[in-house]
Amino acid sequence: MLNPFDIVIFGGGGDLSLRKLLPAMYRAYQEGNLPEGTRIVPTVRALANEQEFIDKVQESLKSFLAKGEYNAKDWKAFSTFLKPMVVNVTEQDDNWLQLKELLESDADDKARVFYYSLPPAVYGRCSELLSDNQLITDTTRVVVEKPIGYCGASAEEINAKIAEYFKESQIYRIDHYLGKETVQNLMALRFSNVMFENMWDAKTIDNIQISISETVGLESRAGFYDKAGALRDMVQNHLLQLLCLVAMESPNKLTAKSIRTEKLKVLEALRPLVDADVEANTVRGQYVPGQLDDKLVPGYLEELGENSETETFVAIRAHIDNWRWSGVPFYLRTGKRMKKRCAEIIVEYKNVSHNVYDETVGGIEPNRLVIRLQPEESIQLTLMSKRLDNLEMQLEPVTLDLDLSKNYENGFHSDAYKRLMLDAASGNASLFIHRDEVRQAWAWIDPIINHWKTAGMPALYRAGTWGPDDADELLAENNHTWYNAGSK
Ligand code: BG6
Repeated sequence: MLNPFDIVIFGGGGDLSLRKLLPAMYRAYQEGNLPEGTRIVPTVRALANEQEFIDKVQESLKSFLAKGEYNAKDWKAFSTFLKPMVVNVTEQDDNWLQLKELLESDADDKARVFYYSLPPAVYGRCSELLSDNQLITDTTRVVVEKPIGYCGASAEEINAKIAEYFKESQIYRIDHYLGKETVQNLMALRFSNVMFENMWDAKTIDNIQISISETVGLESRAGFYDKAGALRDMVQNHLLQLLCLVAMESPNKLTAKSIRTEKLKVLEALRPLVDADVEANTVRGQYVPGQLDDKLVPGYLEELGENSETETFVAIRAHIDNWRWSGVPFYLRTGKRMKKRCAEIIVEYKNVSHNVYDETVGGIEPNRLVIRLQPEESIQLTLMSKRLDNLEMQLEPVTLDLDLSKNYENGFHSDAYKRLMLDAASGNASLFIHRDEVRQAWAWIDPIINHWKTAGMPALYRAGTWGPDDADELLAENNHTWYNAGSK
């Protein structure tokens, strides 16, 4: 069981905090994972009345928790952990002294987590103020949210600024995809089952698809999203992290250092896409109005209210130039306003080397492993089998279907933020990202962005579809097709 800790959420009244971070802490409480003596300190810019803020948290829990999770008794107990405070993260004033007083009222060696739910532009200044006020102890960790920068250079600047005040071992760069249960299961699957580990390379695998499709559009994030676009928002972090976990060698141990070392090697082996390669291996898209779940939804430009060349969809054919993966295409795809919300890793195996059956029994489809992260968590393996209702020899694909939701008995809730916040509190950095990984990921992304700067309008796709036709053509060039959730 975890020791009590203090977690200060800078930007505690913001969207991320109310939607994700505070619900995550509530879930931790419900499961008995929030030790007595823990203090959750959401900081806000102004607080006329503490009760008003607590009421706001209560309302947001009611709306953002899943059905049945909220109840008045647990809320009452959970609310006693909350210590909201006013802190101006860019100015020294008396509020910092109050924060200091609160934090220093408990033992010096109590774990202290500062969660930056803030715009990256103020990470440096906030770190400086923490240091000026001597709030950084040996047991302090800082959790840093993406996006870290808009390009390699700006990410370096932010990382360098934070590094003036924190040691690398204290910096926890979060990617909430790494906290998803099935992502960790991917490692369990690979590294604790001999049958997968021995069939995980270019000799047996034909291609791998990593796809995160969303049905939401711009939401209320126009200011951020239109500057970022899908490549920076999703590929630079979530998709590349998933790619690393799929493609990396087995770490020597499950320590942060070993895992990060292996992930970094994958990023270093990614074949650079420069100029003509960008043209040949990437597709940018932007959604126009379309039908989604029987409703007509507006296009990106209508939602934004102005013209823009920002991509809301990306598809990339990537290659990892190393011994294990030589010649295997890794297809990365993500987009807003797509047909279904789904995050999946699809491993398509090669076909058998020699077909002993003639065409009367039906074709042999290659085996396929589908690791679904959301909406529901499952692992499916498609195999060829004999049809049992027939005296003739007839083959058909059948699916071994592992539904992981049964693991959520006993009140356990799958929640990536909960997992990662508790990891930060206990000092487990294995699911967080090292500075070198951020640097290397940008080194691969930067040339794509540079090429796209002059590429004009992205290809258009109707909302409610799987993206522009160009994305299908990209795979067709290798005789592959996208595995679209539920369509095969
Ligand atoms: C965030 C992106 O990092 O991830 C959002 O900024 C995106 O644009 C979100 O919607 C997706 O996360 P999830 O867990 O809902 O798939």
